[in-house]
Amino acid sequence: MAYTRQTIDSAAIERQRAICAEIFEKVTADGARPLALVDTYGCQQNEADSEKLRGYLAEMGYGFTQDEFQADVIVVNTCAVREHAEMRVLGNVGALNHSKKARPGQIIAVCGCMVQQEHMAQKIKMSYPIVDLVFGPHELWRFPELLRAVMEKHRRVFAADKNDGAVAEGIPVRRDGTVKAWLSIMYGCNNFCTYCIVPYVRGRERSRRPEDVVAEARALVEAGYKDITLLGQNVNSYGKDLDCGVDFADLIAMINAIPGDFLIRFMTSHPRDATEKLFRTMAACEKCAHHIHLPVQSGSDTILKRMNRHYDRAKYLEEIATARRYMPDIVITTDIIVGFPGETEEDFADTLSLCEEVRFDAMFTFIYSKRVGTPAATMPDPYTREDKQKHFDALTELANRISGEKHREYEGRTLRVLVDGETGKEEYNLSSRTNGGRLVHLRGDKSLIGQFVEVRITASNTWALYGELA
Ligand code: SAH
Ligand code: SF4
Ligand code: F3S
Repeated sequence: MAYTRQTIDSAAIERQRAICAEIFEKVTADGARPLALVDTYGCQQNEADSEKLRGYLAEMGYGFTQDEFQADVIVVNTCAVREHAEMRVLGNVGALNHSKKARPGQIIAVCGCMVQQEHMAQKIKMSYPIVDLVFGPHELWRFPELLRAVMEKHRRVFAADKNDGAVAEGIPVRRDGTVKAWLSIMYGCNNFCTYCIVPYVRGRERSRRPEDVVAEARALVEAGYKDITLLGQNVNSYGKDLDCGVDFADLIAMINAIPGDFLIRFMTSHPRDATEKLFRTMAACEKCAHHIHLPVQSGSDTILKRMNRHYDRAKYLEEIATARRYMPDIVITTDIIVGFPGETEEDFADTLSLCEEVRFDAMFTFIYSKRVGTPAATMPDPYTREDKQKHFDALTELANRISGEKHREYEGRTLRVLVDGETGKEEYNLSSRTNGGRLVHLRGDKSLIGQFVEVRITASNTWALYGELA
């Protein structure tokens, strides 16, 4: 599949920002303060995209609300990875009938991965007349122009044509937090795992230029952010499409060289190309968190092959061993799919034994969900939902037991954590994260938010650690 890298140049983004200024004039006339609601589903990439939508909306003069009855503009940023996610989106979009009735001028937009699928865009067109604007992830950079078209022409606008995607720099961003920040380093995916919809809706793999990434990281550090997560569907392929001699490990080293006290995190890594160089670099870069999210998906070689994952169990275990050789304290988390078409008892037993062998700090487990247009959707799938649920429950139990055991090992230890927010609970009012990303609840003054502190771990459970300031 030939793909020519496309760039949306800065002049194009400037034009979009000029449209924001135009909309600003209109919607804030007579001193009005219009409000927008951005509702996000799915992964961190979508969170990062929503921060761009909010960046544009803020330039148009919108404030933000969580209440759909107060909102003049609602943007629902959707996910397509599993059926459950799509059902939630459709249910919630349907419920916006009420707010639209109460506020007839309300504009409702649905964007993101779900509507990049033709059948879903059609479904919204036919069955959800309250939706005024539909646009796929590739059109996000021209959201102002699309919104203006709805406002001026008073007609529905659909923009989710087939597209390989481009790279756009200079879109304004309005970040949610002040301590942690998402930083997209690349977009799209070329892996085509046979169960997965992402490559179809997010387009081809394309990296941002290292100088753009480093400049954004530097600006984040200067703005006081302490925890920067580099995002991509498969960060280990970073730079392959650029031919600039910078790979993902090099990029970590470049960001590590930025002066300041902050942490570098990243996700997601694909085991197919997690190199020894990556682990060596992680160990050598003092700002890089000792955490890797390395989705294994299955412990069975037969299933891995049918998933088109390009590694086998032995290679995966070897990577874990290498990671632990360089960083004995590394936190390892993973994703697993249960009930892939044709997965047998033996295949599932292989997954259980792999989990026992690796002892993941945390596991994200999913029951296979059939995605229209993917190769796995046409594979024979003889097992029932009940069979799969039984396996799912067994895996969850194992995952919880191991997480609980791993957390118990922290008790009595003193470690450095980054305080990142309030919990709203009285006993442990602050939340924080260890270097490896484990959640620690503690008690302290909220002025500690955004600071690294030493904490002694006093208790734990499956999901979190509890501590006191040391
Ligand atoms: N790019 C990342 C993950 C993206 S999706 C990676 O390759 O690791 C996040 C997780 O959702 C995947 O790791 C997988 O475990 C799960 N997932 C993806 N498609 C799925 C499907 N059709 N059914 C169930 N789970 C799925
Ligand atoms: Fe999906 Fe595989 Fe790409 Fe991850 S690597 S986004 S699972 S196709
Ligand atoms: Fe969902 Fe799209 Fe992310 S399908 S998981 S929001 S890339």
